Amino acid sequence: MARGTGADEAADAYERHLAVHERDRRRAQGSFYTPAELVEWVLDRALPPRGSVLDPACGTGHFLVAAARRLGVRAVHGSDLDPDAVRIARERLQELDPSVPSAEIAARVVVADGLTAWQDRTFDAVVGNPPFLGQLRRRSAGRNEAHRRELGAYTDTSAVFLRRALDLVVPGGTVALVQPISVLAARDAGPVRAVVAERGAVTDFWCSDRPVFEGTTVLTCVPVVRIGATPATDPDGWGALAAPGFGIPAVSLPAGAGTLGDLAACTADFRDQYYGLAPFVHDRLAGGVPLVTTGLIDPAESRWGSVPTRFARRRYDAPSVDLDALRSDGALARWAEARLVPKLLVAGQGRVIEAVADEAGAWLPSVPVVSVVPHDLDDLWRLLAVLLAPPVVAHAATRYLGTGLTPGSVKVSARQLAALPLPTDADAWAEGADLARRAQRAGAGERTGLLAAVGGAMTAAYAGGDDVHAWWAARVRRTDESGGAGRSAPA
Ligand SMILES: C[S@@+](CC[C@H](N)C(=O)[O-])C[C@H]1O[C@@H](n2cnc3c(N)ncnc32)[C@H](O)[C@@H]1O
Repeated sequence: MARGTGADEAADAYERHLAVHERDRRRAQGSFYTPAELVEWVLDRALPPRGSVLDPACGTGHFLVAAARRLGVRAVHGSDLDPDAVRIARERLQELDPSVPSAEIAARVVVADGLTAWQDRTFDAVVGNPPFLGQLRRRSAGRNEAHRRELGAYTDTSAVFLRRALDLVVPGGTVALVQPISVLAARDAGPVRAVVAERGAVTDFWCSDRPVFEGTTVLTCVPVVRIGATPATDPDGWGALAAPGFGIPAVSLPAGAGTLGDLAACTADFRDQYYGLAPFVHDRLAGGVPLVTTGLIDPAESRWGSVPTRFARRRYDAPSVDLDALRSDGALARWAEARLVPKLLVAGQGRVIEAVADEAGAWLPSVPVVSVVPHDLDDLWRLLAVLLAPPVVAHAATRYLGTGLTPGSVKVSARQLAALPLPTDADAWAEGADLARRAQRAGAGERTGLLAAVGGAMTAAYAGGDDVHAWWAARVRRTDESGGAGRSAPA
């Protein structure tokens, strides 16, 4: 895109100024500007041949100027809280069409809160790159009362802008706002995805597996929502829009065979357990109970005692809980009793779902490890096989895409583990369970081959394809090489 006119240069200079001198303010307001190619991609899909367009957080007007080149300066409307940015946006539009009176431009591009401005107005398209704000700032971000009730306090500001935009477009109109990829699966964005399904559908989707905003690590996407389009996009299925971009193979798991929660109780621990345990954890305590952190869990393997780990800001070779002291202290005695049973321990997140069986019920989990306690002990290895199943991992990676630390990691909460579907092919499942037991009991040399065999049997148990197995196998290998991808910090 051609740039380089006086006002465009002012916009560039302003962005450099924000970058260099006001990094903090820029962070605080979420002002990271949009690359030109992405602007054009959005406008190609969102703009009607003629009509009106709004960017509710227009900054220096990248979307507005590009849209005005297509539709004319009189078609574009914008708002931003930053008066300097608004001034520059106005100047750029003026330069594009000097025949439009400046008062007219000023009436269309205003200093205002995009979440509350434009009452009773509608547009053919709402586009832009609204601010993304972290949790601490979310509460203070402007939003109207109805949205507060509908969305809750922790919804990212970018998703609140998406929600607001849905009210500002005409039937048949389009909303295309840049969003962090957490919008795909974050629980707090669920109500926004639900309203999208009520009003229309995501008809186009852009996402990137690397950050496109200079100076940020946030991965972004653009769901293009067309009002009135069908079929509605499943509010729980947005991850599938982005999965191909992350190389995650498509899977459809059998419904009707029940879920993991039918066979086991899945339980997470929280800060109380994390901090409560700290005084009772010692390194290599004779007679102590192993404390298993996320970083120590590999598929069908605990590396407790063979590699160091961190817990409560300290490094341990073999973190061990003094159970007698813990019991006499009282606070966590019942918790420890409940956890010291045969179970699976599942890492907080990893490249695959990393789970290991604690057959003897002799280990304690460290936050954010999830405990999966079978109702019937005979199901222990069957449950491990389910968590090692490539189609289950692909399903979880898709469904919960963007909720982990990195998009490459699979993060599955206790609730989500309980919702994982069970396989339909009982024979293949039994074979997978037997192989999973052998894999865990095997030495390192043999385990790799046995794990691959578990993957094969469980892919068959879920009627999955070779692509899913190959994808999973590559990820298991990488986990193996890195010695686990997890972290051990409280949730
Ligand atoms: C990421 S920038 C994007 C700017 C522009 N859309 C672009 O891509 O060039 C976000 C902008 O939102 C503005 N902003 C933050 N909170 C706002 C609010 N409540 N209403 C309007 N603008 C806001 C910031 O000042 C910043 O200019």
